[in-house]
Amino acid sequence: MSKIFFKNELISFLKKKKGVALDLASGKGFYSKLLSDFNWKVDSLDIEKKFNTENFKNINFTEIDIENTTNSFLKKKLYFKNYDLILLFRFLHRPLFTLIPKILKINGLFFCETFMIKDGVGKLRTKKYMLKENELIKLNYRNLSVINFYQGIDRNKKNLIQSAIFSTKV
Ligand SMILES: C[S@@+](CC[C@H](N)C(=O)[O-])C[C@H]1O[C@@H](n2cnc3c(N)ncnc32)[C@H](O)[C@@H]1O
Repeated sequence: MSKIFFKNELISFLKKKKGVALDLASGKGFYSKLLSDFNWKVDSLDIEKKFNTENFKNINFTEIDIENTTNSFLKKKLYFKNYDLILLFRFLHRPLFTLIPKILKINGLFFCETFMIKDGVGKLRTKKYMLKENELIKLNYRNLSVINFYQGIDRNKKNLIQSAIFSTKV
């Protein structure tokens, strides 16, 4: 399991605050479980259920194909909730960048990390699923402010990634 670049920042936020989080494309639930361990409530979404949620009273899992869902349907599926924390790790569906600022609470944080392509080189076979250079920092618009930004080789020194932490603009 590769750790995200801003893991320390995530852990310190989890310790400092409690609330409701959204883990998009949660996979085997590494981060959903981590959040639950810190007593956060988690809405965990993925196209396929890959982990057992029964032992985690704080995790509410929904099976959903995020790529083939409109933002308004997704909002409905989330019961029009707003979140104190949103995670988007190693999954890219750009319409989420329009939805996330609308469902992130004031003083909430959005952590995003995924693969990027540079000079035609990147981990994934499909270009569309990789971030372009500086793509995350350019999201410093509308309701999102970039707090931390990194692009380069990940901590395992294997892949090119971009990682960022955003807050809501006030
Ligand atoms: C590389 S994993 C990342 C998992 C997790 N975010 C993490 O970092 O540990 C990508 C996840 O995206 C999910 N996924 C792929 N296409 C999806 C879709 N259309 N809708 C929802 N989830 C999807 C996969 O099932 C997989 O669990």
